[in-house]
Amino acid sequence: MDAGGQGTTATRSRASGGVFAEEEAEVARAAARDADELEAMTRRREAGEFLEQVVEEVEVMGERLVVAPGVFVPRQRTALLIGEAVREARARRAPRVLEMCAGAAPVAALVARGVPGARVHVADVDDAALAVARQNLPAEAVLHLGDGWAALPPGERFDVIAAVPPYVPRDRLALMPREAREHEPPAALLGGEDGLDHVRTLLAGAADRLARGGVVAPGSRTAGSAAPRPRSPAPPAGSARWTRCSARTTAPPCSRVRDPAGDLIRIQQPTD
Ligand SMILES: C[S@@+](CC[C@H](N)C(=O)[O-])C[C@H]1O[C@@H](n2cnc3c(N)ncnc32)[C@H](O)[C@@H]1O
Repeated sequence: MDAGGQGTTATRSRASGGVFAEEEAEVARAAARDADELEAMTRRREAGEFLEQVVEEVEVMGERLVVAPGVFVPRQRTALLIGEAVREARARRAPRVLEMCAGAAPVAALVARGVPGARVHVADVDDAALAVARQNLPAEAVLHLGDGWAALPPGERFDVIAAVPPYVPRDRLALMPREAREHEPPAALLGGEDGLDHVRTLLAGAADRLARGGVVAPGSRTAGSAAPRPRSPAPPAGSARWTRCSARTTAPPCSRVRDPAGDLIRIQQPTD
């Protein structure tokens, strides 16, 4: 099956800037029920939509997740954070795990699928994102709608908190690929002047939300190769005894977390 009569799906994908045109065409062909649907998908891709939004699916670490137009598409590099969250969750009995700024909830979904007994929560300010997250999570997962920490009921604490908050510095949005600029909500991307506004908010409130010995790992990235790496944000106020970890900190309780795109910060609440 191929898109009707206007060149092959792969040729059209390449003409509209697709780098992995053959692979993309294969994904679209597998997802389309008939030639008409494949043609509609090819047109949407030509118009700049993410392939993942067009086929409403993304594969992360071998697991299929639902995605949808208008909701942030989980990136492959989030596998690093997912791996850390799964490792931390497995180290605890019946861990309570929260994905903040969850979007489609790639971290929470893979923890739920990979860590038996994990009690998974997600939070996001966007109800469209939570509707997608719902489809990726088990029925017992708890979803919280609201702005930052205000989404959560008072007193709720977690053993593992992970997040990929919006991370693009305001003046770097123009460097983002067209797909992101035109087909992801700006609120899912923009993190203030240096891209770290949401990371700071997350860390400022984390002390009140972590159980003893709990960890928080906020992933953050800058947009575009020309963008400078952000300085790691400071640990939460009043948390002098917390351990702040980065790719250069290897002594326990830090683990070495390497990522060419930047450090993965991991902060641990004291156990006593
Ligand atoms: C970069 S996306 C990451 C989504 C998901 N964690 C992932 O990796 O695919 C950031 C998400 O943060 C959400 N968000 C933006 N501002 C927020 C806020 N003030 N409180 C909670 N969530 C917010 C957006 O709706 C979006 O889903």
